[in-house]
Amino acid sequence: MATADPTPFTQLLIFGGSGDLARRKLVPAVVRLSRTGLRDGGVQVVGVGRRAMSDDAFRRELRDALPEELTHAFDGMARDVHYRSADVGDLRSLQKLRAEVDGLAGRPAFGRLCYLALRPGLFATAIALLRAAGIVHRHDHEGGGYRRVVIEKPFGHDLASARALNDALHRELDEHQVLRIDHYLGKETVQNLLGLRFHNAIFEPVWNRHHVELVQITVAETIGVERGRADYYDGTGALRDVVQNHMLQLLALVAMEPPASLDADVVRNQKVEVLKALRAVDREDAARCSVRARYGPGTGGNAGLAGYLDEEGVAPDSATETYAALRAEVDNWRWRGVPFLLRHGKRMPRRFTEVQVQFRMPPIQLFNQPQDMSAAAYHRALREGAICQIRPNVLRIGIQPDESIGLSFGVKRPGPEMVMAPAALAFDYRTHFGTEPPDAYERLLLDAMSGDATLFLRADEIEASWQYCDSILAAWQTPGTVPLLEYGAGTWGPPDADRLFVGCEGGWSRG
Ligand code: BG6
Repeated sequence: MATADPTPFTQLLIFGGSGDLARRKLVPAVVRLSRTGLRDGGVQVVGVGRRAMSDDAFRRELRDALPEELTHAFDGMARDVHYRSADVGDLRSLQKLRAEVDGLAGRPAFGRLCYLALRPGLFATAIALLRAAGIVHRHDHEGGGYRRVVIEKPFGHDLASARALNDALHRELDEHQVLRIDHYLGKETVQNLLGLRFHNAIFEPVWNRHHVELVQITVAETIGVERGRADYYDGTGALRDVVQNHMLQLLALVAMEPPASLDADVVRNQKVEVLKALRAVDREDAARCSVRARYGPGTGGNAGLAGYLDEEGVAPDSATETYAALRAEVDNWRWRGVPFLLRHGKRMPRRFTEVQVQFRMPPIQLFNQPQDMSAAAYHRALREGAICQIRPNVLRIGIQPDESIGLSFGVKRPGPEMVMAPAALAFDYRTHFGTEPPDAYERLLLDAMSGDATLFLRADEIEASWQYCDSILAAWQTPGTVPLLEYGAGTWGPPDADRLFVGCEGGWSRG
């Protein structure tokens, strides 16, 4: 670290610094940010882990994991990358670390961000000891510069554990110093849900139960339980791993009321209102409105794919779901009666995340009635997409990998007959802006450094999400209520999930 430079900078301490997240996400994000210009004097990165390692060895590990196009930028900042070994469960070790990182600075630190990429069981102890060691302290400007803590998911395992963790955090720090990550909120297209809804006046008048028939949200993944993850995943399952956080955040952004400003608390207040309005389910509702399943071995073209129970590290008697589908209800003035159909699964045929807002059908069908056409010709034309059966208009918001917005509608086909054909308006981020959207962690790290908490989860937001999920989990844990179904690896999940559409048009999206 150069000592002559007087510009204040941010010290980013990554606890779990030698782990996967630091290598794959955090450090690449910092390197990209360093290219586009960081505020003040930039960032000093200090990886902290239990194993001993020299700065140089750490730098080499990080550099080797970087995509080629970032290595040059990394070389330019490598002198600001360090490694220190410490045990977050041991006060003395953290006191020693504090002396080291204070000394590492060599110039005034504008602030210190402690990123906890740790096992969730360590969060509460780590925060208490970080404070006791003086690495963080309550209040931003006491002792110079801010002190903030970023906490990776999972935040709790249920409502009780999330509450206990929030209490433990609040004993040590103020709420505004705690930044709970949900990386979905850092995705451009997720942020654009706010932009789309509240910058464009055309949507608001139709964004309610009078015009929307249903909202469908999908997070489909092709991966199964990856190597080394079964330890975490088998005790977690699809509902806790993805629905409780990422999907309920998407739901909250789709359903929230317009905020009066973009102030972090104003936006989060509106999201919390939605999460609190989610109707808790009892056992009977759960049987009607939820489906859970896990992937079995693939067959046919998917014959190479192992079933969940055969994945390395999964308990042979596991009852963990890798697929969850819900028909959620938001009990408020705007949405009462509109189903929010949520579906997440691992080992599905395609990876995509999207939101579909499906509008109500016109009250009568004026067009495309097969008056002069034979029934066979009519059905053939339908099959070939030459004419369209009356279909609802759907606004499709592609979150990933296609970052896009599409609106489907019907248009008159050229010719003497009044025949309607399917059409769509389409917008694609990459084509339109000619650039790849930045990685979620870039935005989140930048916001964490500047203290903008809008894209981080507040304590009450997490608790409201757990409250809803707990009601489902309680029903699932009652034997005989909602059976654990099986679907073949590489398929769209159990056909039984189609029943969640009862009374509505359409079916599950295939992206
Ligand atoms: C993580 C889950 O939070 O999100 C993973 O723990 C999941 O199981 C991942 O695969 C999905 O994130 P993304 O950004 O790849 O959609």
